[in-house]
Amino acid sequence: MAVTIVPFGRTRAGEEVLAGRIENAAGMAVTVLDYGATIQSVCVPDGRGGRVDVALGYDTVAGYEAGDGYLGATIGRVGNRIGGARFSLNGEEYDLAKNDGENHLHGGLRGFDKYVWDMKAVPGGLACSRISPDGEEGYPGTLEVTVTFTLSEDDALAITYEARTDRDTPVNLTNHTYFNLNGGGSVLDHTLRLAAHRFCENGAGCLPTGRMLAVEGTPFDFRRPKPIGRDIGADDPQLRVGGGYDHSFDLDGGPAAVLYSAQSGLEMTVETDLPGMQVYTANFLSPRPGKGGAVMGPREAVCLETQLHPNAMNCWGFPSPVLRAGKTLVTRTCYRFARR
Ligand code: BGC
Repeated sequence: MAVTIVPFGRTRAGEEVLAGRIENAAGMAVTVLDYGATIQSVCVPDGRGGRVDVALGYDTVAGYEAGDGYLGATIGRVGNRIGGARFSLNGEEYDLAKNDGENHLHGGLRGFDKYVWDMKAVPGGLACSRISPDGEEGYPGTLEVTVTFTLSEDDALAITYEARTDRDTPVNLTNHTYFNLNGGGSVLDHTLRLAAHRFCENGAGCLPTGRMLAVEGTPFDFRRPKPIGRDIGADDPQLRVGGGYDHSFDLDGGPAAVLYSAQSGLEMTVETDLPGMQVYTANFLSPRPGKGGAVMGPREAVCLETQLHPNAMNCWGFPSPVLRAGKTLVTRTCYRFARR
């Protein structure tokens, strides 16, 4: 395994941004930026002598700073939405930044995706760390976070999230990579299998209501592999809320998802110890130039964001995201690639 760290650019404020590259003997290579602990590229050998970059992204720091799509980024302190940008904890009310209408999204006005982290090489990969100070975006407690990206010789990219706090606080870390197994174009012909017989009902603004709905007999049934586009245009109230799939699936266990493209022959399996996964078909990704000048847009990728369910602080019955003072949180998600 070769790990190298080279300069990538500078932020508007003049901070240096580094790119770490992990490459295995088989030729799979992953680039991680210390800006946002962001996966900038995932290049997978296609078995025909080429490599497909299956992750959407930008060539410049400016792209990441300007972009609103969280491409490839580590999301925190709390991924996805918190209704009314408010929660109560230990009898106290906390007000967070409202950056998505009345709600709080992906950590607020300046989430973990918009900071330069400390990055260093570790065996098999790269570790990115940052300290989120007490009160950042309204959250209580100083949170120490390390996200470690490792690549195996059999083409599995693992992300390990570790966090520790000095005061009770909600934490829900995820990665927001937009996957397209052809390297670009529509994602609607990719097939997807999800190990989930329930998903979180969304209310207005894609905010979970706290209810779970059965996938059975709905466009949300991916228990057998199905093209993402097959039912995405169905006249279904849940699909109308977010203009496509933008829902947290309640995972049954075993591999959470298998994504496959017949065009490239690439398959990606997602494994996680987390109970939920946001399936987001890039519905709100406004057209913009990405790597190599290629234009990216809606439905050109799918995000498979492993997580605790959104709005869990306000939904009784969802697994709690509260990390207690002095405790260490460790979770792991793995994206495994194969050729079929
Ligand atoms: C959310 C979308 C949101 C997107 C932003 C996803 O995780 O579920 O609703 O628009 O992130 O890129």
